[in-house]
Amino acid sequence: MIVADWLKKAVDHLNARKVPEAEANAEFLLAHVLKTGRVEARAQGARALPEKQGMNYWNLVMERGRRIPLAYVLGSQPFCGLDIEVTPQALVPRPETEELVEDCVRRLMPRAAEDLHLLEIGTGTGCVAIALASRLPNAVVYATEISQTALKLAEKNAMRHHVARRIRFIQEDLFKAGAAPKRWADLVVSNPPYIPTAEIRKLEPEVLREPFLALDGGKDGLDAVRAIVASAPRFLKPGGFLVMEIGSDQAAAVLKLLLQSGFAEASVKKDLQGLDRIAAAKMVE
Ligand SMILES: C[S@@+](CC[C@H](N)C(=O)[O-])C[C@H]1O[C@@H](n2cnc3c(N)ncnc32)[C@H](O)[C@@H]1O
Repeated sequence: MIVADWLKKAVDHLNARKVPEAEANAEFLLAHVLKTGRVEARAQGARALPEKQGMNYWNLVMERGRRIPLAYVLGSQPFCGLDIEVTPQALVPRPETEELVEDCVRRLMPRAAEDLHLLEIGTGTGCVAIALASRLPNAVVYATEISQTALKLAEKNAMRHHVARRIRFIQEDLFKAGAAPKRWADLVVSNPPYIPTAEIRKLEPEVLREPFLALDGGKDGLDAVRAIVASAPRFLKPGGFLVMEIGSDQAAAVLKLLLQSGFAEASVKKDLQGLDRIAAAKMVE
């Protein structure tokens, strides 16, 4: 069978399984098997695919047809220009979280020459900590996470991107964060689990393959946000920033929490889809 026929068969299979963007998915999987880019893979339509590669491709297409996230099938996901290894033990990095990183970088760039100390809460694959360490060459990042398997993956990703020396991965429950050395951080960042428990089962089948722990924000989705807003003042230097990704309908509640905790300059920025997404505030001097 030629490549174009395999592609058509794959698109039909994925459409039948109601996989969103079936064509793009079929092309990404083909590119993975051919070890090339998506456009280059499509351009090879007229050539015959060797049987072994054809079987390999079909196995991946079937996996995707079972609504396993594309990133889990491929084993990696691009994030802030970095190739991040992913497994079902950690959340797949999202495009909106790139904006969380950009917001932190914008705040810290004027001080990039200084020795900066950052805390990330709930590091998952390590994507945020690694992107920040890559963009801020003088920063040391403390990255906490409750899941030991996610932490192992994050360490591997940090090594792969040559920033492991500047990231300390720590297993810690954000709800039980112990007495920390006071006010050492220039910035606290988190993409916490923020989906209300009852909403989770209504999400796409792909999301349900991701760790529940990475999604579940409790009854109103704000359990982790509340704990982070309450604990961040213990870590942050005066003038330091707290930056969090939040649910698109949580802006008012999060702004209220930030102001009640004595933060200043609380704001919420929209993501590229125009949805409220990045909450930030400054620790008072
Ligand atoms: C939404 S994911 C974010 C992962 C990654 N930082 C990213 O942006 O892709 C939230 C992360 O918080 C972790 N987490 C959940 N509950 C936690 C807790 N009680 N203490 C520490 N980390 C927790 C999850 O395991 C998950 O990795």
